[in-house]
Amino acid sequence: MRVLVVGSGGREHALVDAIRQSPKASRLFAAPGNGGTRAHAEPAAIAPDDVEGLATFAENNAIDVTVVGPEAPLSLGIVDRFRARQLGVIGPAADLARIEGSKTFTKRLCSAQGLPTAAYTVCSTAEEAYGVLEASAYPTVVKADGLAAGKGVVVAETPDEARRAVGDFMERRTLGEAGSTVVIEECLEGEEASFHVFADGVDFQPMVASRDHKRRFEGDTGPNTGGMGAYSDDAILSSELRRDVIDGLIRPTLDAVGAYTGILYAGLMLTREGPKLLEYNVRFGDPETQVILPRLETDLLDVFAAMIDHRLSDVELAWKPGASASVVLVADTYPGNVEKGRRISGLEAAARMDGVTVFHAGTRWEDGHVYTNGGRVLNVTAVGERLDDALEKAYAAADAIDFEGKACRRDIGQKGLKRQ
Ligand code: AMP
Ligand code: GLY
Repeated sequence: MRVLVVGSGGREHALVDAIRQSPKASRLFAAPGNGGTRAHAEPAAIAPDDVEGLATFAENNAIDVTVVGPEAPLSLGIVDRFRARQLGVIGPAADLARIEGSKTFTKRLCSAQGLPTAAYTVCSTAEEAYGVLEASAYPTVVKADGLAAGKGVVVAETPDEARRAVGDFMERRTLGEAGSTVVIEECLEGEEASFHVFADGVDFQPMVASRDHKRRFEGDTGPNTGGMGAYSDDAILSSELRRDVIDGLIRPTLDAVGAYTGILYAGLMLTREGPKLLEYNVRFGDPETQVILPRLETDLLDVFAAMIDHRLSDVELAWKPGASASVVLVADTYPGNVEKGRRISGLEAAARMDGVTVFHAGTRWEDGHVYTNGGRVLNVTAVGERLDDALEKAYAAADAIDFEGKACRRDIGQKGLKRQ
């Protein structure tokens, strides 16, 4: 099979790395890919949101399976375009991508189906929103309705902070149209977890649970980021909670939206009253994918091929017991502006370590050397028999790598270790 992976981050490198291990992968491309994907996937210089360009590339290169990493092309209708040209693609159609693209759409779906989520009010004018904030308990959560690349959620401790968020989103339009409607919701307490499923329009199959670390600094402090690390083990969700999520959330959601295809990712808060939905995403999480796929024993290409043929229920998914962990190496000024072009050393030594895989995120390859090319640079990942083991290996490998201004969080997985 000929395969195209769309995107350029660590998630896409993890996808490339899983697919290249399939004996059925005859040729692999990444559009545009990064400094790490090039070892196994031929780069195609097409931007992920150039939906027409990607469809033409897939047609000209007889691609059997295209896997879409980021959300933007899904909202732009890449799946609809590919299907119209009889091209195999993993993702939902644009109208179902709204489950990520519009918070209002998803909250209303939750209300209609009685799905567990935070109590909320939708506000389409700033005046209305200020009124709701008067009557809110604090902390409260203000969310821009549309896609905002992680900048659309403010957990406000005080009425002032909440009003500032409403002013930014609705009056000053700091996020453009994405903030023209806001959702104001109850602040939930608990630990977060990420839960992904494969879906083929008829059936679905769950993946192992994982957990992201969104804040920049240790102890979950500092600004939100694109993710500073992740881990996966079977203690994140007990089998009972897993059943609650599948039967109480995922299955009714898929039944309600009808014919959903691709990856569905539920961001959960594990509250005292049980798991509640924070958000849905219509794609693989980043950096969650980097810890989920290393635990997958089944050939990922078999899974994707079955999804395209709507026979996912024929596939038996097998997962490695134990744990996986990924530490994100960033430029020290991230998530602020960063210097690019710093030469990276130690990659080979790290990759040789037992159980370790280094996924590239913001890197660039030039003349035999790898250089930093963004804020989040590398996802240093390891599998182990237990979480402590996986973390130890990941940090040992992270310490073997160097570049000027390298930084990371030293407490990835600590909450899981306490439970272990
Ligand atoms: P979202 O984009 O909806 O996942 O929100 C980003 C982050 O904001 C989540 O990962 C949570 O940490 C936090 N968050 C969102 N909604 C809530 C809520 N209702 N209560 C508490 N925290 C929330
Ligand atoms: N890990 C968060 C996300 O992919 O949206």
